[in-house]
Amino acid sequence: MGVGPGDEVVVPSFTFYASVEAIVTAGARPVFCDVDPDTRNVTPDTVRAVLTPSTKAIVSVDLFGLPAPSPALRELGVPVLEDAAQAAGASLDGRRAGALGDVATFSFYPSKNLACFGDGGALTTDDDRIAELARALRFHGSRDKQTFQYVGYNSRLDEMQAAILRVALPELDGWCEGRRRAAQAYTEAGIERFVTAPVEPAGAQAAWHLYVAAHPDADELIAGLRDHGVGARAYYRTPVHRQPPMSPYAPSDGSLPVTDELARTNLALPMSPTLSVEQVDDVVSAVSSSVPAGPRRARA
Ligand SMILES: Cc1ncc(COP(=O)(O)O)c(C=O)c1O
Repeated sequence: MGVGPGDEVVVPSFTFYASVEAIVTAGARPVFCDVDPDTRNVTPDTVRAVLTPSTKAIVSVDLFGLPAPSPALRELGVPVLEDAAQAAGASLDGRRAGALGDVATFSFYPSKNLACFGDGGALTTDDDRIAELARALRFHGSRDKQTFQYVGYNSRLDEMQAAILRVALPELDGWCEGRRRAAQAYTEAGIERFVTAPVEPAGAQAAWHLYVAAHPDADELIAGLRDHGVGARAYYRTPVHRQPPMSPYAPSDGSLPVTDELARTNLALPMSPTLSVEQVDDVVSAVSSSVPAGPRRARA
């Protein structure tokens, strides 16, 4: 995307570290923006608040498999990179995750919705210039293995992982259906009575990579669930702007209130393509027995 030293790239802090790491690796400056408390994603308003004349790109993360509003972000006039690592199989207004920004990135790490048996990833774009550049960069900056136009990387998807992904890809939509049924089962079992449930953005079909709820005493609830044999865990308890290597880019304290609140209160409940309605009912009943007393809603 032509991002380099002196450029700023807007990115959420409530995400996996890699969304931001890539900006620093490119020599640019990450500028953190806050997220929406319901969808946990960036919005045109949270991004607009930190745009400057030096903003060269926006990273919009489809967090937990819920698509971010990348098409609306593109209207801000800055190129958008959609981090779709968690969103394979999601869609927004009928368009697939991976086709929502100018460029999108996927991870096929084994825990992902579309997974290989090791490490792998892909980039999608309808920009021929970027596609051609990426093809060269992944092979040490060469197009023909003889001449080298750029300083690139070894970032090829190896054949074994590609073969596994070719088998998995046709299953993706079916697996996502299973995840959607499980998310629906949480709603029908009344999970909202005990925790703040995730909210699917308008027009979205989430991929439900994770089912992330929130509660003011999330850690206590996680410990209680463990006692009931239910695995639950927190994500990004230390948001990226508070990680030590990011201190040069951290905004002044208090400027990302929703991020800080979600980092403190989130907990991921079980989610998988094969999670049955009965299992969801068991989880919800474990939540009802473990939930600490106090206000239900954890909102910034
Ligand atoms: C939102 C997000 N971005 C980027 C990545 C990085 O993916 P990988 O480790 O395959 O490079 C991940 C992986 O966990 C992720 O969840």
